[in-house]
Amino acid sequence: MIKIAPSLLSADFSDMRSGVETALKYGADWLHCDVMDGVFVPNLSFGSKMIADIRRYVGKDAYLDVHLMIVKPERYLERFAEAGASQITVHVEATEDLQETIRRIHALGVDAGVSLNPSTDETVILPFLEEIETVLCMTVVPGYGGQRLIGSVIPKILRLAERKKENGYSFELEADGGVRADNASVLREAGATVLVAGSAFYGAEDKKSLLRKLKGEED
Ligand code: DX5
Ligand code: ZN
Repeated sequence: MIKIAPSLLSADFSDMRSGVETALKYGADWLHCDVMDGVFVPNLSFGSKMIADIRRYVGKDAYLDVHLMIVKPERYLERFAEAGASQITVHVEATEDLQETIRRIHALGVDAGVSLNPSTDETVILPFLEEIETVLCMTVVPGYGGQRLIGSVIPKILRLAERKKENGYSFELEADGGVRADNASVLREAGATVLVAGSAFYGAEDKKSLLRKLKGEED
């Protein structure tokens, strides 16, 4: 069963409650929270206070999928865990000691995700596949919502899915960036298990139908 993670980056920041409410009302599985520092990516978004405020609003059950697009994310793990992140995803390109960062995220009682930029080879994370909860493959260059999916990332998703199957790993394989109704099937067939949708979700007139299309329940 495919999970859908609306990205709050595309919600109206002056009315984040409705953005959250809308996602949950339509059956979002995860709430994808994009944290940007203006250094790792050329854009700024929000920090741990936003996560804490959302957590207070949604209660304990919602899954807050926190995607850190920041340099040296290890500086802020406690902050995001205390704020109520369900999962903290760090970029392999931004992290100094990935093994130690994963260990610390787990010690905080939070799921650990590792993200790869479109140009980053998956071989760097192979040693960690058994212990992490999510591999996030960026399907756009991170920084902004509303970009077009980079199709050349699909073979990487496929290779990760094959490795997962061969070894009986249980990590979620998340595709992030440019996901739309017309490319969701390619991602699902490659082996993606979580689809992030920002502009496609918040821009859709018929959100119910969009979610069905993303999940492959409707053409
Ligand atoms: C991009 C972010 C994505 C973004 C996706 O840097 O990591 O999560 O919000 O937005 P869309 O779905 O519009 O490409
Ligand atoms: Zn993201």
